[in-house]
Order: sequence, then C-alpha cells, then structure tokens
Amino acid sequence: MIQSPEWLKKALFYEIYPQSFYDTNGDGIGDLNGVIAKLDYIKGLGFNAIWLNPIYDSPFYDAGYDVRDFKKVAPRYGTNEDAYRLFEEAHKRGMHVILDFVPGHTSIDHPWFKKSCLPEKNEYTDRYVWTNDVGQFPKGYRSINGFYDRNGSVMTNFFSIQPALNYGFYKKEENYQQTSDEPGPQSTIHDMTDVLRFWMSHGADGFRCDMADSLVKNDTPDHQGTAKVWHQMIDAIKGEFPEAVFVSEWNSPYESWNSGFDVDFLLFQEWVKDGNFMLIHGDHPYFSFAKPASLFAKPYFHNLQAMAKEGEKIGHYYAPITGNHDVPRVSHDINEEEVKLYMAYLYTSRGVPFLYYGDEIGMTYWEGLPSKEGAYARAGSRTPMQWDSSAQAGFTTSDSPYFPVNPNKDAINVASEELDPHSLLHYVRDLLSFRKEHVALDNDANITFIAQLHAKPLVYQREKDGEKLLIAINPSNKEAKVEIPEKDAKVIRSYGEYAKEKRTLTLKEGSYVILQY
Ligand code: NOJ
Ligand code: CA
Repeated sequence: MIQSPEWLKKALFYEIYPQSFYDTNGDGIGDLNGVIAKLDYIKGLGFNAIWLNPIYDSPFYDAGYDVRDFKKVAPRYGTNEDAYRLFEEAHKRGMHVILDFVPGHTSIDHPWFKKSCLPEKNEYTDRYVWTNDVGQFPKGYRSINGFYDRNGSVMTNFFSIQPALNYGFYKKEENYQQTSDEPGPQSTIHDMTDVLRFWMSHGADGFRCDMADSLVKNDTPDHQGTAKVWHQMIDAIKGEFPEAVFVSEWNSPYESWNSGFDVDFLLFQEWVKDGNFMLIHGDHPYFSFAKPASLFAKPYFHNLQAMAKEGEKIGHYYAPITGNHDVPRVSHDINEEEVKLYMAYLYTSRGVPFLYYGDEIGMTYWEGLPSKEGAYARAGSRTPMQWDSSAQAGFTTSDSPYFPVNPNKDAINVASEELDPHSLLHYVRDLLSFRKEHVALDNDANITFIAQLHAKPLVYQREKDGEKLLIAINPSNKEAKVEIPEKDAKVIRSYGEYAKEKRTLTLKEGSYVILQY
C-alpha cells in the first residue's frame, strides 16, 4: 500500500461551502474570489488546507453535486482561471486545496447523459446504467424513465436528477448489466480519471470523493468491486502526481484505505457504520456534560483504537470532523462549553481533522429554514458565513443573499469574536497553534486510549519522536480522577479547573488537562 503524502501529517482542513462563504461581486452568492480574499483569515486561524464543496457548472438541483461539466467552474463562482489562481494563492501561503469529486453521477443536463438518452447507439450509450426496456427497473436500485426516446429505465444515485454513471456490476445478474471490465464502465473510468488529471494539472492538491463506496453496483458487502475501480483511478493519478491526496466519503476507513484512499471521514449520520454521531449529536451526546456516556461509547472508542493502530501501520488516516454541509452543526445538540471540549478532543487526537466553515465562531443550525437547491433539512447548516454584524453579516453587498443570513449574526460573527479573548474563535486558533507546536499531536502520531472506554473522562496518550502527552478531557458535570502515568509529568495546557496531587489528577467539571512526559 502506498504511504500517504507527507503533507497530510500536518494538514488541518477547513471546509468551504463556496456559495455561502464570501461574495465579492454583489450577486448574493459566494464565489472563488471570495475564497481567495479570505485565505489570510483561514491561514491566520491556523488551517493549512481547504476542502471546497463542488464548484463546477451545474443546474444546482443538489447544490452542485449534480454536475453538468466536470471541467468547468460554474459561472456564478467565477472562471477556471479564478480556480487556478486560488490554487496558486493557497500554495504561496503554504496551503493545499482539495476539490469535491463527484464520481457516482452527473446532472441530467450533462452532455454525456443527453447522448446516452438517444435511441441510436453512440459513445455514451453505456455511460449510465440503463435497463433494456422502459418497463424494466434495475433490481434493488432507484431509476427514472419516460422523458427520452431510448427504450429503458436509467438508474439514479441520490436524487432523481442524478443518473448513476456506469462503473459496472460486481456480478452480472440481469441482462442489461455489465462488469467493471467491459468497455462501457472502462470508458467511464477513463474519462473520470481524466477529470482528476485535469484539475491536478491545474494545481489542485487532491479530492474529497463523494459517495465513494457506491460506484460498482451489486458489490460484495466489503465493496471489492468498488475498491478495484478506485485503485484504477487513484493509482493512475498518484503515479503522475505523487502528492495527490484522496479523501473519501465512505465511513469505513478499512475499506476506504484498501481502495487506495489516504483519508476517510468519520461522519455523523446515525445510520452509517463507525459513525461519529454519538459524540456530539442525538439525545445522548458523549460531550454533553449532563448525560452519562452512552452505551455506544465503549464500542466506538474500542473500534477507533483498532482503526488508529491500523492507520498507523499503513500510514493512512481517518478524519474526525466538526460537521459538514449535510448535517446539523456541531452546536446543535451541545452548548458552547461542550463544543469547546469536543474541539479539544478533535485537535489533540489522531487523524486529519476537518472543521466546517463557521463552526469556529459557533454558527448555529437554523431549524426550519426553507430549502433551496436541494438542501431540504440541510439548509440550516448552509447559511452565509457571519463575518460581522452589518446587514448581511459582511457576506455580500446584495440585500438578497441566495440563502438568508442567520438573524443571530449580531451575537455570532468573526469581527466581534476577534475582540473577545474568550470567544470560540480565539479558543480554536489557540488550539490549532498548540497542536502545531507538538509533534506528538501530528496527525500521524500514535494514540492509545487509556482507562475504561465506556465512561468519562476521556483519556489518551499521544506519542511521536520521543514526545509523550497524556490528554484527559472531562465532558461531564462531575469531578473525575485520572492517574498520572509518570511522576515527572508536567501540565503544559489546561482548560477549566483541575488539581494535581502526586500521581492523581482531579479534573473539575468541563475541563481538560494535557500532561507532557
Ligand atoms: C454526499 C454529499 O455530501 C451531499 O451533499 C450530496 O447531496 C450527495 N452526496 C449526493 O451527491
Ligand atoms: Ca458572487
């Protein structure tokens, strides 16, 4: 297995949902020049890497995850030259930028799809998964039909406006299915690899890959068919661009790593394996002070420990996150003090951490915000960045931003938090700089969870190049005691109240302590 690029050892990611970040031309929609304008802000916080949600030409029925042209920047965000300039400006500042790669489907407006809809056989006939008759539906998958002359139903991936690209079936079971090695799927793989190559050759540093586990249909439970396809694409790109980084939306690090990915997200969806949900969401978040650790804590940390060991062995990572554009914000089910302890965990534990724009100032999920561009319940996490307390929070000069600014912008915004030394913004900036000062906190440094994994406090050791740290976090409203592993251990950082007596550390409610030895 290829080791991940060196830069991932210290990468600290900031996710940008471009339409909501910063608008520079007054049309009410964030743009690439806006991202460039805010690079110094992001770098100033301590981040050195960016994940940009889709920036491609699209009819925006799913916020740009319905791509019409993989190689063209959506005019509302600017031009391809703006994207290339963004890469350049980021690199000048020692930062990396990864794009969102949406391999599984296109928009129904994509020229490939339009040609695939024609009854006459052509180059794109097998680019999507079509059944042989309009009355036949792909077994076990959703499909649409009836708005074209080709006789068949076409499989969809997410929304109905997102027909599934054809990467083949693991095993052929019905007459219309092809295996991944057949010419149709192979030409999909060829053209999609070409999309990756295109952006890499213009300066991108890698990709976050959408729905990465689902390319090959009727796959084995451990996704062997999909793994093979990814290897074909990733190995080709890494051969040409050894520094390229691939991050997957998979939520099963072992499978993702086996498929060639460097990093896999630990996501928050309740229904996905290895989900991070129980840490900060639901009725029983681990980081809620008032609740005892849930039953899921033990298996969760147990599993995480095993994953960390494996990641260490092969030089790959999982990615703990604050949230993303698909889930309620980190502040939804826990309060600001609790969020602070979660951030302490995020930035002292192993892995490549990702922070969703606005979480550094405690932006909130807007319950009930009407949907736009396929957001539905996700709308509440996609509102414009709150830069200051002016009419549109400094996001745009337009008086009608495409998503309304959250009315709490007077209380929650970058400008006012800059002025308050106790703000979340300062807290996050401080944590990031602390992480960078300690090799034992590098993304690849060893982690060993200590004590019972079913309870609080959360205690773990990090170690690299001779530096050892013990991190003890007490996300509870009860005092907790922790045994100090070495008598010379010294406290190098703390939050909240604690007492250190001989070999015992007493953590008051809502506190954390870091010892070095
Ligand atoms: C996952 C993305 O994060 C989400 O926003 C999108 O709607 C679906 N995949 C479909 O591409
Ligand atoms: Ca704009």
